[in-house]
Amino acid sequence: MKIFLCVDAAQATALAGAQVQQQIMRKPESVLGFATGGTMEALYAELIRLHRHQALSFAGVRSFNLDEYLGLSGTHSHSYSHYMHQHLFDHVNIQPQHIHLLQGDAADPVVEAQAYEQRIQAVDGIDLQLLGLGENGHIGFNEPSSSLASRTRVKRLAPDTLAANQRYFSADISQPTHALTMGIGTIMDARQVVMLALGAKKADAVAHMIEGPISARWPASVLQMHPQTTVILDAPAAQHLACQIGRAHV
Ligand code: F6R
Repeated sequence: MKIFLCVDAAQATALAGAQVQQQIMRKPESVLGFATGGTMEALYAELIRLHRHQALSFAGVRSFNLDEYLGLSGTHSHSYSHYMHQHLFDHVNIQPQHIHLLQGDAADPVVEAQAYEQRIQAVDGIDLQLLGLGENGHIGFNEPSSSLASRTRVKRLAPDTLAANQRYFSADISQPTHALTMGIGTIMDARQVVMLALGAKKADAVAHMIEGPISARWPASVLQMHPQTTVILDAPAAQHLACQIGRAHV
């Protein structure tokens, strides 16, 4: 695990953007795994900036998103499909046929999950998987108690995840209680993982992820076993780490 402690969220986000940029420059046909959530919004803004001002091209990139709310169609305003178009896809030159998203309203979610795994295999796996971190240690929607070998499937969202994401829903749009998510085994198959965790609310999960025992209680702790994981933190997110980490020079 390579850990970067940045001076602030802006530096951390720029560093994560640079990791994606380097991956695409090394391999223009990269398969990227994308996450959603508040942390990723600034990162996608950075990727759009790199596309506009440094000619970073997404023309060859193929993408797979981590998760989608069960029951929401791709056009629903609260779907992660909608989020991805709003925050990234509509602003870069990714080819629509290269975008892979889980269908939250699939007639049979079990079949949808299995087909998604096959689509990932068909492109020879994910080169770089972006991850955010749940306050409870989840990655994707692999909530505490998820099998560390799990594959794409339906998961019930934990009460603390529902509470953390309640802010995105209003009284007239009820919050889904389940999601389709890549499994932990699926994420661990990615050749490279870049995790961005920012702010004091993530500090407990960060400490368990980096220093704790590997456990289904803190699913992100399994990343200790991944050979190519980069964790990018700001100071508030790193505050509960017992080990000393030097500042990143970027
Ligand atoms: C969503 C996802 C989640 C989020 C996590 C952090 O696709 O993968 O694991 O990354 O819940 O969300 P924020 O960034 O909103 O704190």
